[in-house]
Amino acid sequence: MSGGDNLDFEIRPNQAPVAVAERDALLVNPGFGRVFTDHMVTVRYAEGKGWYDARVEARASISIDPASAVLHYAQEIFEGLKAYKMADGGVAMFRPDANAARFAQSAQRMAMPALPTATFLQSLREIIRIDRSWIPQSDEGSLYLRPFAYASEVFLGVRPSREYLYLVIASPVGAYFSGGVKPVSVWVSPDFTRAAPGGTGAAKCGGNYAAGLSAQAEAIENGCDQVVYLDAVERKNIDELGGMNVFFVLDDGSLATPPLTGTILPGITRDSVIQLAQRAGRRVAERPVSMDEWREGAASGRIREAFACGTAAVITPIGTVKSPDFEFTVADGGSGEVTMGLRKELVDIQRGRAADPFGWVHRVL
Ligand SMILES: Cc1ncc(COP(=O)(O)O)c(C=O)c1O
Repeated sequence: MSGGDNLDFEIRPNQAPVAVAERDALLVNPGFGRVFTDHMVTVRYAEGKGWYDARVEARASISIDPASAVLHYAQEIFEGLKAYKMADGGVAMFRPDANAARFAQSAQRMAMPALPTATFLQSLREIIRIDRSWIPQSDEGSLYLRPFAYASEVFLGVRPSREYLYLVIASPVGAYFSGGVKPVSVWVSPDFTRAAPGGTGAAKCGGNYAAGLSAQAEAIENGCDQVVYLDAVERKNIDELGGMNVFFVLDDGSLATPPLTGTILPGITRDSVIQLAQRAGRRVAERPVSMDEWREGAASGRIREAFACGTAAVITPIGTVKSPDFEFTVADGGSGEVTMGLRKELVDIQRGRAADPFGWVHRVL
């Protein structure tokens, strides 16, 4: 079948998988994004033919022509989501339909063909099924899934590629920040911004991350875990972190988070936090929050907590904020009660330890 919504995946099991003892040793402390499973998914696309040749096969290097469009013009998009061991021993994904929708939106922004939602979801189920023994058992552990697609046409002209390769790789992971859940420090970049109005900030494309690496390096040099970006126009309002959205907890118990105006990634964790908070009766304002408001609010007590959220780090308190001009802590720099409460609620739903009122959990096994 080609080009349709329901491609059949040809399964070619890896004939030389990692030995059980070696795999078990790797799963003890996998870190983040360093260990990979035995398989990968590949699906090809050609203009006029559509998506075709859907396969699950042994994970291996891919050969790439030096003139492949992606190497020159960075036409590439990706997603990130996790499969979890559930409390009852089963396996589930969290809101993969939302990742499918965002992948399609990223494709549209980057002038790429949309992969049908059914194929995206099936590709994830296939790799989870075949690599299920790679899912860590630990409470903080999960199988991180990385679907991505790139321009594979061998052509140097500047126009959208006519050929693409979609892949899914999977990586068992522990906690994103080493040391488990503890408050992170963030660096307010004085020089670098992430995304301007009309740009690609809302798309999950590799180019956004390449453009952020200098800022992230600056954060590390200044002893911080992550960079926090200000808006590119006035350098006043907070956009997001390098790989996470930001929330503020105010002294009246309400939450505030920067609005989706096209310059930040519409995080699925962000959306989940909004829904969980509103269900609990909290007000959530999607509104600009300036760096001055954060600084003054932290000093006056108006802003009680701040946290970062995303698939990789789930919900992580922000303890310290640094820039060349100032440094302050949010409250006592520790983990806030509202932050940790929301984290527990979300993780309990993801792991099947609590009811799933929004239908977010997609069982695979
Ligand atoms: C720039 C950026 N913002 C926010 C997020 C959070 O998005 P999500 O909650 O969908 O993982 C991510 C991570 O995917 C990201 O890379």
